[in-house]
Amino acid sequence: MASPALLFVCLGNICRSPLAEAAFRRAATVAGLDCRVDSAGTGDWHVGNPPDPRAIAEAARHGIDISRYRARQANAQDFVAFTHILALDTQNLVDLNRIAPTVSPGAISARVSLLLDHVPGRAGQSVADPYWGGPEDFAQTWADVEQAAAALVNALRRAG
Ligand code: 4NP
Repeated sequence: MASPALLFVCLGNICRSPLAEAAFRRAATVAGLDCRVDSAGTGDWHVGNPPDPRAIAEAARHGIDISRYRARQANAQDFVAFTHILALDTQNLVDLNRIAPTVSPGAISARVSLLLDHVPGRAGQSVADPYWGGPEDFAQTWADVEQAAAALVNALRRAG
């Protein structure tokens, strides 16, 4: 089977999904899991921008430098290029289904799901948007995405 390719998607691609990308990238590296990882936003307001300084600071607290990440918008091609698309919240999931290609659905390889559906006991939950919050909200985002990253790595190892 081709190695997995995971895309984490939030609204702006400057707070939650870059942290999810970073947490998963590290968990996969530690586990020796060969995979491709990226993140994107459903919106285009921050395209080309680095992550929010508070997200950069939160990642740095965990020893990860995300300052060179740049925001991009999710697009129809992502549904062909990735095997798994993980929505950070339920609205992101709704918006992703609007972006999904409708011309040739047979070409779609990605399985689209809510990130926290992969964490036992947290199905249906959203990773709260920390954008309007404080540093403690970014710490909560990290806790959520790190928990999800561990669960995803375990599931992918079992599948592989
Ligand atoms: P994110 O957070 O979706 O986790 O990147 C947000 C970033 C920007 C905005 C909202 C949420 N915004 O309204 O610009």
